[in-house]
Amino acid sequence: MWPLVVVLLLRSACCGSAQLIFNITKSVEYTACNESVIIPCFVNNVEATNINEMYVKWKLKGKDIFTFNGALQKTTHGDNFKSTKIIPQKLLTGIASLEMDKAEAVVGNYTCEVTELSREGETIIELKYRIVSWFSPNENILIVIFPILAVLLSWGQFGIVTIKYKANLVKEKTILLLVGGLLLTIVVIVGAILFVPGEYSTKNSCGLGLIVIPTVILILLQYCVFIIGVWMSPFTIAILILQVLGYVLSVVGLSLCVSECTPVHGPLLISGLGITALAELLGLVYMKLVASNQKTIQPPRKAVEEPLNAFKESKGMMNDE
Ligand SMILES: *[C@@H]1O[C@H](CO)[C@@H](O)[C@H](O)[C@H]1NC(C)=O
Ligand SMILES: *[C@@H]1O[C@H](CO)[C@@H](O)[C@H](O)[C@H]1NC(C)=O
Ligand SMILES: *[C@@H]1O[C@H](CO)[C@@H](O)[C@H](O)[C@H]1NC(C)=O
Repeated sequence: MWPLVVVLLLRSACCGSAQLIFNITKSVEYTACNESVIIPCFVNNVEATNINEMYVKWKLKGKDIFTFNGALQKTTHGDNFKSTKIIPQKLLTGIASLEMDKAEAVVGNYTCEVTELSREGETIIELKYRIVSWFSPNENILIVIFPILAVLLSWGQFGIVTIKYKANLVKEKTILLLVGGLLLTIVVIVGAILFVPGEYSTKNSCGLGLIVIPTVILILLQYCVFIIGVWMSPFTIAILILQVLGYVLSVVGLSLCVSECTPVHGPLLISGLGITALAELLGLVYMKLVASNQKTIQPPRKAVEEPLNAFKESKGMMNDE
């Protein structure tokens, strides 16, 4: 019986009116998108009227990472927490929230300890890290699928051209198309690998750049393939214009997204990539149609006229005149 009374008496003597009351925040989260991190600490019943009556200490794992001594107007920082700060002017309204750069933030349980003359108190806030994907999963899929589709369709065009227009093809041109196609394929695959997993980072931005920017090669390849295979018609010109439009849209989308940690211009980028893939598809279909018609109707201009022996004599050198 007696010990209990003593404990109760002691407790009311020590803490009854001498306790600062905090608004309890269990935890706060930050992500790759927070440039700085603020750990909230609100005291509800500050009575001090002068800042020199206040003392604030922030601790993590038992170590002081930040102190503010109101009487001396002096601030100290822990070793790895040089960017920590509070706003002294707000202390009198009870706000002792700690701010630091994201680079210095570590997850853990932070203790906010506030002293005001003879009253004091502390509260613990857990800082957590949350991983957020840069683009949404659906956007990720489309951003990767469209360029890969476009590259595959481009190989399809290459296939048609090499099979149907062998006689018309100069070795150099084939090699050029082949090298361009391979280069593009490799770059897009590397880009997709860098881009896909995870958060906004330099790595992912570079990956996105590698996926989007080189699709300009697709325009050149398609142009070459048209020249070799079907020559220019209003239809091929329309396809090329569509493809340039798609490229412009995707590059504009890229330049807007690349600086956004939570990108809102994803749809612009994706529609650009989608149009690029569509232009490749139209090109392939058109070539296929023309190629199958040419068996019965007229062969493409140069194919037959080009004398084979002249070709042999010039050892593979051929002039387009
Ligand atoms: C703290 O809590 C009180 C009451 O619950 C509320 O009125 C006050 O606005 C809160 N302070 C802050 C800074 O959130
Ligand atoms: C991180 O940023 C978000 C959005 O701006 C914000 O709501 C959140 O409070 C920040 N987290 C921390 C710990 O500062
Ligand atoms: C912080 O404290 C909570 C509750 O005591 C605990 O569940 C959690 O694991 C702690 N977090 C860290 C990072 O130590």
